[in-house]
Amino acid sequence: MRLECIECGSKFKLHERFYTCPKCGGLLEVEFELSELKRKLDRKRLKVEAPSVWKYRAFMPILDESKIVSLSEGGTPLYRCNRLAKEVGVRELYVKFEGANPTGSFKDRGMTVGVTKALELGAKTVACASTGNTSASLAAYAAKAGLRCVVLLPKGKVARGKLAQTLIYGAQTIAVKGNFDEALTIVRRICEERKDIYLLNSLNPFRPQGQKTIGFEIADQLGWEVPDRVVVPMGNCANIWAIYKGFFEFDLVGLTKGIPMMTGIQSEGSMPIVDAIKRGLDKFVPVKKPETIATAIRIGNPVNGPKAIRAIRASKGTAESVSDAEIIKAQKLMTRLEGIGAEPASASTVAGLKKLVRRGTIKRDERVVCVATGHILKDPEEAIRVSERPREAPARYKEIIKLLR
Ligand code: F0G
Repeated sequence: MRLECIECGSKFKLHERFYTCPKCGGLLEVEFELSELKRKLDRKRLKVEAPSVWKYRAFMPILDESKIVSLSEGGTPLYRCNRLAKEVGVRELYVKFEGANPTGSFKDRGMTVGVTKALELGAKTVACASTGNTSASLAAYAAKAGLRCVVLLPKGKVARGKLAQTLIYGAQTIAVKGNFDEALTIVRRICEERKDIYLLNSLNPFRPQGQKTIGFEIADQLGWEVPDRVVVPMGNCANIWAIYKGFFEFDLVGLTKGIPMMTGIQSEGSMPIVDAIKRGLDKFVPVKKPETIATAIRIGNPVNGPKAIRAIRASKGTAESVSDAEIIKAQKLMTRLEGIGAEPASASTVAGLKKLVRRGTIKRDERVVCVATGHILKDPEEAIRVSERPREAPARYKEIIKLLR
């Protein structure tokens, strides 16, 4: 295993503490020696063991397994959604419910690997900037590992559930009077100057290695088949790449065949990657003042944008934007037709799918998986705001039965 720059192809040792390529500044990725990977694979065990991040440990860039920090992440349900499929107009629809992870989002898959790596590298402090889920997850895994955790959040823009988690798990939390992109720029600088603080944003090449298990699990749960399409919300853009990489690696070792069309969704108020894909550009233009109800993906300058563009193009996928109103509508469809409670960023996938089917970009006979990245309780205030108020009544049988008529 080695680190490799996706731009200039330079190769580095796995234990080097680089966040980006020291030669050209490009994004790094973990690459495998195929023969070594094939030798490590226990195909029999893969076919019988229940899905979880560490089931696929042959694909993980960990050198010392005794250091693994785990809260039993992964193994989330893949719900078959027949009522939702009918509503959006596709043959076969599934929702991969990442809200079932230990801290309620897919970030736990990356943090189990990232925090383990922090221990391997001898770090004492870990840090991130976050729209809320990364910080909740990092705070929990740092606590489990006995590491100090420093977190920068955009002040007033983090959903309550995520803020509550970050604080109670004991992260040293700073509310930055600025947006996520500004907070990330500052924390990157801190981690470059202070070698004792280890950066665990998705720029870190190890975190996406855990997140690629979303792709592994989807294939595993579909009986070692890949769907036609996987729809993913895009914020800082590591996850769509990670899932793509998961399918790519399974195909490479011959566990499955083919790669689904990776389809990325952003909010209208912050859609730099959708814009680049639609205009056929290789580079995206950052959005200065991103705004959306889906605060998880309120990101104007996604650092992993080049990886997202590659994943979408290489898999012949596409990208689409959705409005806040479309997100809320999709969130209600998911809860009310399927009993799946997902935060707004996650609901953007169903909103995007619906739009692309209506337009004819997505064919009705496709088998589609939407990735619901975070739990609805992450943002309870939004859920209450978009719902009908409860009706009040005195504590008397007659009054209440009258209201129910
Ligand atoms: N969905 C949820 C619920 C998220 O929290 C995020 C990102 C995404 C989707 C997008 O994933 O960044 O890999 O494209 N949240 C980050 C955070 C930015 O700080 O919690 P991405």
